[in-house]
Amino acid sequence: MGNEKRSNFTGKLGFVLAAAGSAVGLGNIWRFPYLAAQYGGGIFLLVYVILAVTFGFTLLTAEIAIGRKTGLSAIGAFKKLSSKYSFVGYLASIVPIIILPYYCVIGGWVTKYFASFIAGQGSLMATDAFFGSFIGQPIEPVLWFAIYLGLTALVVLFGVEKGIEKVSKVLMPVLIVLSIFIAVYTMFLPGAMEGVSYYLLPDFSKFSITTVLAAMGQLFYSMSLAMGIMITYGSYMKKDVNLESSVHQIELFDTGIAFLAGLMIIPSVFVFSGGDESALGQGPGLMFVTLPKVFESMTGGTIIGILFFLLVLFAALTSSISLMETIVSIFCDKFKISRKKSCLFVFVLSLVLGIPSSLGNGIWANIKIMGMDFLTFFDFISNSVIMPVVAFFTSIFVGYVIKPKSVIDEVELTGKFKSKALFNFVIKYFAPICIVLILISSVFSALGIISI
Ligand code: PHE
Repeated sequence: MGNEKRSNFTGKLGFVLAAAGSAVGLGNIWRFPYLAAQYGGGIFLLVYVILAVTFGFTLLTAEIAIGRKTGLSAIGAFKKLSSKYSFVGYLASIVPIIILPYYCVIGGWVTKYFASFIAGQGSLMATDAFFGSFIGQPIEPVLWFAIYLGLTALVVLFGVEKGIEKVSKVLMPVLIVLSIFIAVYTMFLPGAMEGVSYYLLPDFSKFSITTVLAAMGQLFYSMSLAMGIMITYGSYMKKDVNLESSVHQIELFDTGIAFLAGLMIIPSVFVFSGGDESALGQGPGLMFVTLPKVFESMTGGTIIGILFFLLVLFAALTSSISLMETIVSIFCDKFKISRKKSCLFVFVLSLVLGIPSSLGNGIWANIKIMGMDFLTFFDFISNSVIMPVVAFFTSIFVGYVIKPKSVIDEVELTGKFKSKALFNFVIKYFAPICIVLILISSVFSALGIISI
């Protein structure tokens, strides 16, 4: 990135796998299941899938096309197309800076779980108190956070992303197979079917505007949208690669893995909570609390636990690397500093910003911002506020400033754009109107003006 010559991804498969590497991560495996559990199961899944094939498809196409058209990353790309809109590029660039620190806090939890399974602590981890007492400590989670962040920084510093990507390309299919195995195993445990139907059958009485907001934020997060990352990826994409079908494949990968993660985690909540449905609302800890119980109930559960958390670790690393890369190259370009300095700076900055997110589960638990602990607040402000705003301006920008045609032409470099009508409609009307409605109602509900 930066001033160096832009290298290209070698073909379609290279592009799809690299973009999917950024997209598939903790968002799919850790975040999606707990949101689905919390927001009514089937109804959340349904809203998510509808948004994915409309919004997700349209924004992903627009971002990749903008990147490929300009050959630049977010800030430069918006500036080049219309200097009045360069603020969108800047706004988008703030998102990775907010997300990276707390992403690495969760990455640290995954690393800890991986290490604990190796240390043979599977039974201990399956107890109710394990997770809570781990994240509540002042020192240990911060150390794991620093280790995970350091790992990410080392990869970025030495420029060995390619190596990690190669390994993770081999490991991703293994993760899919293992997730299917765990999901099928869980389904045969007593009580699981109740969970499967909670997850798959939509209950329309549980629908609310917050379901849509949560699903939309999750969509952006999971597909790495509205933060400039896919623009950068697009800038590396060759002109002869079919953009539309690449987008479909990335979507399928990303949504498929999230779906499987839900199928693995939600039924196990029903199996192990003894019918206590409040366990569904426990939030970010869901995966860490339930999965060790599943593994404990299996023969060979320790091996499965080690393997599973190792695979999740790789999936998370490819995402945090792409987050850090983006920030490092923004700082390189903006402050004209070397990659090494920029990398060090981002490491220290993220360390400082991440510590509150870690301590917010323990000694700083009573410090609340708008009623949220630090991690939840950073997550909320990026996913439910800034990203929808960026997505709104992106759709206005494409729909009315550079016009949908400029994206359509870019897509049609390799043939007909099959979903042209859908793209047009979503980018001009559906996306901006929906985002505004959702944002307004969520602000009102946050301020307690209306309750939804
Ligand atoms: N999409 C990634 C995930 O689902 C998170 C991520 C966001 C990665 C933004 C890169 C950029 O985990």
